[in-house]
Amino acid sequence: MRLNSLAVHAGRDNMGIAHVPSIDLSTTYRTPVLDEATDNIDAMAQGHQPINNPIYQRLHNPTVDRLEKAMSALEGSEASVSFASGMAAVTGSLLAAKMVGSHVIAVRPIYGGTDHLLACGILGLDVSWATADDVGSHIRPETAMILCETPANPTLALIDIEDIVSQAGDVPVLVDSTFATPVLQKPLMHGATLVLHSGTKFLGGHGDVMAGIVSCSEEWARRLRQVRILTGGNLHPQAAYTVHRGLQTLSIRVRSAQENARYLVERLLDHPAVEQVLYPELSSCDPKGLVGRQLAGGGTMIGLVLKEGYAAAREAMSAVQLFTPAVSLGSCDSLIQHPAGLTHRIVEEEARASGGITAGLLRLSIGLEDPEDLWFDLERALSREELALSAK
Ligand SMILES: Cc1ncc(COP(=O)(O)O)c(C=O)c1O
Repeated sequence: MRLNSLAVHAGRDNMGIAHVPSIDLSTTYRTPVLDEATDNIDAMAQGHQPINNPIYQRLHNPTVDRLEKAMSALEGSEASVSFASGMAAVTGSLLAAKMVGSHVIAVRPIYGGTDHLLACGILGLDVSWATADDVGSHIRPETAMILCETPANPTLALIDIEDIVSQAGDVPVLVDSTFATPVLQKPLMHGATLVLHSGTKFLGGHGDVMAGIVSCSEEWARRLRQVRILTGGNLHPQAAYTVHRGLQTLSIRVRSAQENARYLVERLLDHPAVEQVLYPELSSCDPKGLVGRQLAGGGTMIGLVLKEGYAAAREAMSAVQLFTPAVSLGSCDSLIQHPAGLTHRIVEEEARASGGITAGLLRLSIGLEDPEDLWFDLERALSREELALSAK
């Protein structure tokens, strides 16, 4: 089956006569045959799936398992392991890496939470920051993982996954593909070892559920499950159901919002308040020609650098009426936010500056509204900002 069919059907087999999967909310399961229960515990303690009894919701849940199977189908992976949020998935991946070695390499820019998690040292990992071109020179015998994001949050910077993989040699590469979704990018096909999504974004798709998911080999999945069992970052079955349902419309949502984004990019390029538009399909943003080769389209996220910096960004955030001024992304409705002030505020100032996270940068997540209405709102908000500035 192709992606659109998989998105609708994957993880939905063995449902009996039901048309949609049921939600199993049990926190515990009956264990009348102790020897059998013990075998299940032993299997799961080593990161395997249960043999025939989940025992306890933190160890395994059938509803969550359905979502994981669906994501494996979409990403083309042997296995997937879900978590309570994208950050729980990042933490779980880093702790799984720690089972292998003490050093990780990360490429900026990345989501502010991930950046801070690595920079603050709470996980006790030794972290090297690299540019996409010099990842190879940071590799040591104890390097357990290379972590990168493409398109990157918030600048939409693109990374050539195959290039990172070739520099990595035997070192596993984790790609946060949240901005692309499996509709536009399949990192494992380009040699990545693990692909991570904040399911809170496009996968859920309606701004009403938090989740994180990692797709990878069964060997990595076993490490991730072991970490999840111990740290308790498991996804609630109700949330898993909601994300799984979101997958059914993922492709149509991403493609439709992408059309809207393209429409807005064309117009924003000519707006007098705008210094630069950041969008993967613009040649200025894709010097390596990755759109078409790695990324099937520019996606639904736009970066906007305003000529008048912070004051203009603040004005635009308060002037929008159809866009919601809020962090997050990938909902049906359009959002606008200021990375330096919000999502990436926690990132060291120097790293923000070198990563292009400037005071005049706004990040737009384009939704499914009518593009004319979105443009009307944006154009008015940016022009109001012009009026306000010229009045000063
Ligand atoms: C690229 C990326 N990765 C990970 C995360 C963390 O996800 P969550 O908010 O679900 O913990 C985010 C959140 O914005 C993100 O944008």
